[in-house]
Amino acid sequence: MKIDAKDFEKVTKKILAPVYPVIAENIIKETGVVSGICIDLGAGPGNLGLELAKLASGFKVILLDMSEEMLKIAEKNCSDMLLADRVSSWKGNVEQLPFQEDTVDLVVSRGSIFFWEDQVKALNEVYRILKPGGYAYLGGGFGNEELLSQIRAKMREQNPQWDNERKKRTGKVGFLHFSELMKKTVIPRYKISRKQAGLWIIFKK
Ligand SMILES: C[S@@+](CC[C@H](N)C(=O)[O-])C[C@H]1O[C@@H](n2cnc3c(N)ncnc32)[C@H](O)[C@@H]1O
Repeated sequence: MKIDAKDFEKVTKKILAPVYPVIAENIIKETGVVSGICIDLGAGPGNLGLELAKLASGFKVILLDMSEEMLKIAEKNCSDMLLADRVSSWKGNVEQLPFQEDTVDLVVSRGSIFFWEDQVKALNEVYRILKPGGYAYLGGGFGNEELLSQIRAKMREQNPQWDNERKKRTGKVGFLHFSELMKKTVIPRYKISRKQAGLWIIFKK
């Protein structure tokens, strides 16, 4: 499914903006990774990667997406936030990551895994590029229940089906899907966590 970049940017600016700093803070708190190479997969307009760069000056962040339109918006956001010296945007597909193995400290991704065609291949790619000791934090969420209820009210006005779609992705069905999915990967240890008003796959290499 192709997502319209301009429409999605509007949604991030008007509705989703407060979730990214909360998620970024949670990721840093939980993984303890604050420096090195951080890649935001399916970064879209780049909000999560940019928040991580803001929080930890030791990161060099790469915003990776397959959509040129999204990356154009990400580049503008990056220069507006004066982060262009530490954040770059790359065109690429998560199923074939353009990085050498054992080179990346942190891989994050929010709201993108649900669109990946071959999720097993992509997750194995994430594991391949992580350094030993590096972390991956992948999934979707809205930071906390309070933010989710504010966002739900606004999103419902635009799409009455929004909450059903969200529940399918990050509720019980999503959890069972991720559980089966992870068994098919080469990743030996991982957590699948229904928290922060979302669903996350977290692993350390
Ligand atoms: C719903 S948007 C989420 C954007 C951003 N992560 C956020 O939370 O605001 C999903 C993004 O994933 C990207 N995407 C989907 N499949 C991808 C793939 N196989 N490789 C790279 N990017 C992909 C889309 O182009 C889109 O920008």
